[in-house]
Parts: sequence; C-alpha cells; structure tokens
Amino acid sequence: MGYIIAMAGKGGTGKTTLAALIARIIKEKKLGSVLAVDADPNNNLAEALGIESKETAGQIIDEVAAHPEKIPSGMPKDRFIEYQLQTAISEGDGIDLLTMGRPEGPGCYCYVNNVLRNIVGKLIKEYDYIIIDNEAGLEHLSRRTTRRADALVVVSDATPVGLKAAARITGLVSDLDIEARKKFLIINRSAEDFAEEKARAIRLDYLGNLAYDAQLERVSLNGYSLSGLKDDAPVLSTLRRIGERIWQRN
Ligand SMILES: Nc1ncnc2c1ncn2[C@@H]1O[C@H](COP(=O)(O)OP(=O)(O)OP(=O)(O)O)[C@@H](O)[C@H]1O
Ligand SMILES: [Mg+2]
Repeated sequence: MGYIIAMAGKGGTGKTTLAALIARIIKEKKLGSVLAVDADPNNNLAEALGIESKETAGQIIDEVAAHPEKIPSGMPKDRFIEYQLQTAISEGDGIDLLTMGRPEGPGCYCYVNNVLRNIVGKLIKEYDYIIIDNEAGLEHLSRRTTRRADALVVVSDATPVGLKAAARITGLVSDLDIEARKKFLIINRSAEDFAEEKARAIRLDYLGNLAYDAQLERVSLNGYSLSGLKDDAPVLSTLRRIGERIWQRN
C-alpha cells in the first residue's frame, strides 16, 4: 500500500517546492516508486519537478462529458474515464506525475470528485510513495484525492500570522475528517530554529526550519525546475536531515 505524504500550508509558503524536493530525496534514497499528485488547480508541480505535464484529469473529464459518443458501447462511463485517466500520468525519471486540474464544464461536482477519488484510490495501491501537493485550502484533499495521509506536512513562515494559519489548517484537518497519522510542521525561509513549543501548542510535530536559499530562488526564477538545484544546495541538505520522519514509513 502506498505511503501518502500530503502538503498543506498558507499560500506561497513553499508547499510545491518542498513536495518536489521530498520527491527528489525519496528517489535519491531509492526508497521506491513515487507518484506526485498536483491537486492545486493552479498547478505548477510539473514545472517544479521538471516533468512535462500531460492533460489534466479535469480536462479529461470535460472531454468525456463533451463527447459521450466516444465511450465504447457497453462500457460504463466511469470505466472509460478511469481508462482515459491512466493516460494523464506523465512518466518522469523515477517520479510519475498526475495533475488533477479542475473540470470547467457543467455537471455534478460530487460525481467528478468521486471519479477523481476513485482513481487516486487505485493509484495509491500502485506506488510506494504518493506525494500530494495541495492548494492553500485543504478542501480538495478530502473531496478529490484522499481522506487519509500517512504524513501531513504543514509548511509555514516564521511569522505569528503564518503560524496562526498553520493552526487553522490543523483544525481543518480534523473538521474535514482527514485521517493524518503523523502531522509535521516545517518553518520555511527562516534562519531561526524557534518553533518547537509553538508547534506543540497546535499539536504538530516540529521538524525544524529551512533557511532562505539563494540558489533555490535563482533556479526558481530561471524557469522553476528544481532539478537544476545542485545536490549540495543548503535547502536540500537541511531537508535530508530534518525530513527523515516524513518519508520513514513507520
Ligand atoms: N527556502 C527557500 N529559499 C528561497 N526561496 C524559496 C524557499 N522556499 C520557497 N522558495 C520560493 O518561494 C516561492 C513560493 O514557493 P512555492 O511555490 O513552493 O509555495 P507554495 O506554498 O506552493 O505556493 P502556492 O500556495 O501559491 O501554491 C517559489 O518561488 C520558491 O522558489
Ligand atoms: Mg504551490
């Protein structure tokens, strides 16, 4: 059964960046197959990973809705969509990617969400690690991808406002009935290691802080694929050290 890592946090804190870096470290450590899922409708995980994205799951659902005549006779619509969705997975070098997107067309959202949840549910069984990059709100995580995560990684900046948002997210996780076995906090873009107690107060397990990394910013400004980041980039070295419990399966 796949081990699910889900990213959460306020806008711009570094969720996508960390999702891509965690995927890279799991690959580098040869821990198993990795599926990265971009569940943010403003998807940019593909760029961060340097993987060419295919059609999004949302686009495929729209196409099937617009052209029902393409469904082979005798095949249930769901089966056909599931089959089409298999083609939406980009196969990268050691990391595969599924971009969820957002269906634009009319139709019942419950239905669309169920289809997406089903396909994600199946994929979870086919990979060793599933890393889900979420949008700032967490609604999609429960409605469209999965209600369960082995490791929820909340990313925050060091400000009181940022930490308040992290606390709100932790609350949301229980409100949405998301079952997160381990819940971690990483403080990003801060040189100071200060949040241990603050994390405890919001019932997150504090992993540590990642300092601002000029190399990371340069790579990201130059087109955003983090494969351009050197193996010894400070942000990677620190994440390898403090992130151990994120990818540890127990
Ligand atoms: N430690 C760091 N040092 C330097 N730059 C960083 C660091 N972490 C993230 N960044 C930069 O900050 C920007 C925002 O990061 P990112 O896109 O990962 O955030 P996000 O939480 O996914 O945002 P959104 O909520 O919009 O999806 C990116 O340009 C990224 O390169
Ligand atoms: Mg993002």
